[in-house]
Amino acid sequence: MRIPFNKVHFAGNEEKYVLDALHSGAHCGNHKYCSKVVDLMKDQFNFGDVFLTPSGTAALEMGIVLAGIEPGDEVILPSYTFSSTVNAVVLFGGIPVFCEVDPITMNIDATKIEALITEKTKMILPIDYAGLSCDIEMIMEIANRHNLIVFQDCAQSYGSYYKNKACGAEAHIAAFSFHETKNFNAGEGGALVVNVPEWHERAYFLQEKGTDRRLVLKGVKNKYSWVDKGSSYLLSDILAAMLYAQLEKEEAIRTKRSAITDAYSNLFAPFMNKGHIQMLSSTDDHKLNHHAFWVVFDTMENSVRFMEMLREKNVSVYIGYLPLHSAPMGLKYGYKAEDLPLTEDLASRITRLPFYTDLADNGLEYCIESMNEVLNKIYQ
Ligand SMILES: Cc1ncc(COP(=O)(O)O)c(C=O)c1O
Repeated sequence: MRIPFNKVHFAGNEEKYVLDALHSGAHCGNHKYCSKVVDLMKDQFNFGDVFLTPSGTAALEMGIVLAGIEPGDEVILPSYTFSSTVNAVVLFGGIPVFCEVDPITMNIDATKIEALITEKTKMILPIDYAGLSCDIEMIMEIANRHNLIVFQDCAQSYGSYYKNKACGAEAHIAAFSFHETKNFNAGEGGALVVNVPEWHERAYFLQEKGTDRRLVLKGVKNKYSWVDKGSSYLLSDILAAMLYAQLEKEEAIRTKRSAITDAYSNLFAPFMNKGHIQMLSSTDDHKLNHHAFWVVFDTMENSVRFMEMLREKNVSVYIGYLPLHSAPMGLKYGYKAEDLPLTEDLASRITRLPFYTDLADNGLEYCIESMNEVLNKIYQ
């Protein structure tokens, strides 16, 4: 049997909705299916307003412009994240200030943020690694005390909650990804959630190439003009149709994926109890979307052995992110690997396991058997 790392899932109505969107004659952004997705997200998660974008990366960039990040402004973010998180900052002249992660969650360590705040700090940009929410409550408290903006990178956490509030609902702004590797797939796609009411109108202008076209569509004006900075941050209605077919089946998808988290947790629990590994673990404060599963091994050698032996069994397991601060671009910003020793160490020992919706029905047993065999060989 061959187990890929990721595989796309069909929720049922994709073809029907995509054909409907195709034949509607309206293929660009903010049409029927975009509106359906936006309404669904607002109703379900209590988001202020939602702007569908061509990717999570584009949502991050749009958010940085909307938040008014200017050259020289400092943005505090974890080093343990995807390049898109930091690129959005540096593309507009912002300076990344990297923070260590919490080894229990692999998210930014909120207790270490305040020490990094300077006169130039404008924003805190946490992520929700593997779909597990960061400590958004503590991060908002710090931000309010220092008058900072919080931009939550929820690329992996659509449908996750922290203390009964949806990821993305508490921060000033939040970015989601609907890339095919995510729980809900538009091929490529994303969303920017804007929870500051005074920013909503400007967000429409930014999304529509810096024009007030929206006011023409609303009948307020008869000609639109260039009123702000902007770009084309719109998702095609055809892709939104595909996305809607997936989002309407959110609970069924969550249930299937939860079986994978449960199976991996049960397999690794005895090894965690013996102190060999750390793994993704949620508390009563978290409700997971079951996006991914990670394991941190006791040594880098054991992590490498685990990956190699599983690949021999055709099970695809991978390392996590390579830290940003010690990547070639991080070094250009003046960082050295030793600046964030904890992140360096954890990143060298972390492994991500195969995780996709249909694995629950086909392949999970093989994964568990193979991993059990390998773990018993490593820790015999
Ligand atoms: C934390 C994080 N931010 C941003 C992105 C970028 O999203 P997209 O691929 O939709 O541009 C990803 C993608 O994996 C991600 O994991």
